[in-house]
Amino acid sequence: MSNKFYITTPIYYPSDKLHIGHTYCTVATDAMARYKRMQGCDVMFLTGTDEHGQKIEEKAKNAGVTPQQFVDNIVDGNGGIKDLWKLMNISNDRFIRTTDDYHVSAIQAIFKKMYEKGDIYKGKYVGKYSTPCESFWTESQLVDGKCPDCGRDVIDAEEEAYFFRLSKYADRILELLEGGDFLEPASRVNEMVNNFIKPGLEDLCVSRTSFKWGVPVDFDDKHVVYVWIDALFNYMTALGFMNDKYDEVDKYWPADVHFVGKEIVRFHSIIWPAMLMSMELPLPKKVYGHGWLNFNGEKMSKSRGNVVDPYLLAQRYGVDSLRFFLLRTFPFGSDGNFTNELLIQTINTDLANSLGNLVSRTVAMVDKYFGGQLPAERVEGEVDAELISMASALRDAYQTQMDKYAFQNGLAEIFKVLSRANKYIDETTPWILAKDEANKARLATVMYNLLETIRVCASLLHPFMPESADKILGQIGADKAACTWDNAAVFGVLPANVKVNKGEALFPRIDLEKELKELEEIQAAAAPKAEPAIEIAPQAEENVDFETFCKSDFRAVKVKACEAVPKSSKLLKFTLDDGTGTDRQILSGIAKYYKPEELVGKTLVAIVNLPPRKMMGLASCGMLISAVHSEGGEEKLNLLMVSDAIPAGAKLC
Ligand code: MSP
Repeated sequence: MSNKFYITTPIYYPSDKLHIGHTYCTVATDAMARYKRMQGCDVMFLTGTDEHGQKIEEKAKNAGVTPQQFVDNIVDGNGGIKDLWKLMNISNDRFIRTTDDYHVSAIQAIFKKMYEKGDIYKGKYVGKYSTPCESFWTESQLVDGKCPDCGRDVIDAEEEAYFFRLSKYADRILELLEGGDFLEPASRVNEMVNNFIKPGLEDLCVSRTSFKWGVPVDFDDKHVVYVWIDALFNYMTALGFMNDKYDEVDKYWPADVHFVGKEIVRFHSIIWPAMLMSMELPLPKKVYGHGWLNFNGEKMSKSRGNVVDPYLLAQRYGVDSLRFFLLRTFPFGSDGNFTNELLIQTINTDLANSLGNLVSRTVAMVDKYFGGQLPAERVEGEVDAELISMASALRDAYQTQMDKYAFQNGLAEIFKVLSRANKYIDETTPWILAKDEANKARLATVMYNLLETIRVCASLLHPFMPESADKILGQIGADKAACTWDNAAVFGVLPANVKVNKGEALFPRIDLEKELKELEEIQAAAAPKAEPAIEIAPQAEENVDFETFCKSDFRAVKVKACEAVPKSSKLLKFTLDDGTGTDRQILSGIAKYYKPEELVGKTLVAIVNLPPRKMMGLASCGMLISAVHSEGGEEKLNLLMVSDAIPAGAKLC
């Protein structure tokens, strides 16, 4: 059986500096890659950057540089993405950039192949168009019927585009998701099936003509390939699929696991396998959708000014402490709440107290009582058995957790043993044994048992904190070559007359209160300025002539009934008195902001002469007017309400 292990992170958008959330996923992938290498697997660990798309094109334009210059700077520049991974000691075997020539030409060939097969076809993209943003949206992408980017009105529009026959693969995708453990954790399966597959998979628009920064469709170069096709196939082009740069598809594909954040599970568990099915390629063995890190209970975002900078934390507390904290504290499959306090407390409790203290005390005692080298004589004691059996069983308990990607639990197993070892010191009281020369062999046995326990723990901590684990192994006099996966399940590997090397304290204790204050000040000073608390959409630059404006028929309408539209999380259905004597039905995407019952009886404003359109199979005849703004990064909406003294049907002008 092959012992290859192919693991990937998502490829990151180089549109901004990466933050602790991105670092979280990469560190987890790195720990898994190192764990598998320790087990003797032939690991391929891929990461990279996803460099195309409208957002990058716009950012580059605003910065006055070309898109290529823009991404080069964020990826390769000083303090950029590659520098961050170097700092975090990320051991990726490969780094792909979607602007790499070999990838670009491979994407063109892949697109063409699916086109020739008939799985990509040319059609019309009928949707909504936001003129200020020059972007197309589907109905479901709109936020309250408005452009999700600028919040302004969109118009009905159509554009020539290529489509991927996603619908053709719906049954197979459902089977894939429900029939095994392709997608984990299991909760994500329900999410995908209920939210995306059951409502019906539509064909996917896979080309764009509204911007240029992408892989051109080589047989129709007005179009660029949809960024997600470009991005997802990185996992294969990086091995040499449809290119000559590498030749490792047979060796490593299919991927053993793609680690991805929860919001991109949809792309990885529906679109990606469907495209692979179309290309008749083996599917990845697993997609693991991890949770998000929030900061002080809030989503991290640039506009809130609360993104946590991994550089700052790594420089202040050490790379390994940060790596450790991320995987020790948050269960990988769920969301976690990052706080400075939690970080410092974890460093103090686990690293300074439990681990650091055990190592420094043990080494110091061997140094003090034996001049640094243990004699070979042994006298066993009753209390030894439990420690030895726990340390001997640790590797397998840890493996069970790690194989489920339960990093937090794997580490918890190690810390159970470390805390048992600390207790063992209290039970054996080496400082009392040391008082009597007759106890020398017993004291040496106690020290040896402690050193062995530390060896096993440090070996298994290695994937999480490689440098510190090496330092610990160095301090306890372990020969690194002997610290193998096999030996992690054996007690008694260190030579009987092992010699320790007293060294620096690895994890100094931090004064919580003082540090918190300082850290908060530094973070506040370094944080990008939060955007103003209230954001109002910019006013339209384009003038509308008076006559056109007057064509819009604004009327006061009274809400007779209002109810949620079944299966829609956004829409409310209004039955309105518009003064004509016949009820008017309008659907509005405002369910997030109002409870239906609170609107009954209110007098609202509607445009009543828009052509009727269908939403969720229901006709909507007109549009309700509301005010939209953003507060602290959160979208707010208020329906325009007028005095109830105004009769239904009154014209507003
Ligand atoms: N470019 C796409 C991925 C394409 S993969 C074929 C992308 N890039 S991203 O830079 O926006 O995000 C990369 C990863 O970082 C995603 O998995 C995302 O979930 C993760 N995270 C971004 N913010 C995060 C947190 N606050 N917490 C945890 N992970 C987060 O999506």
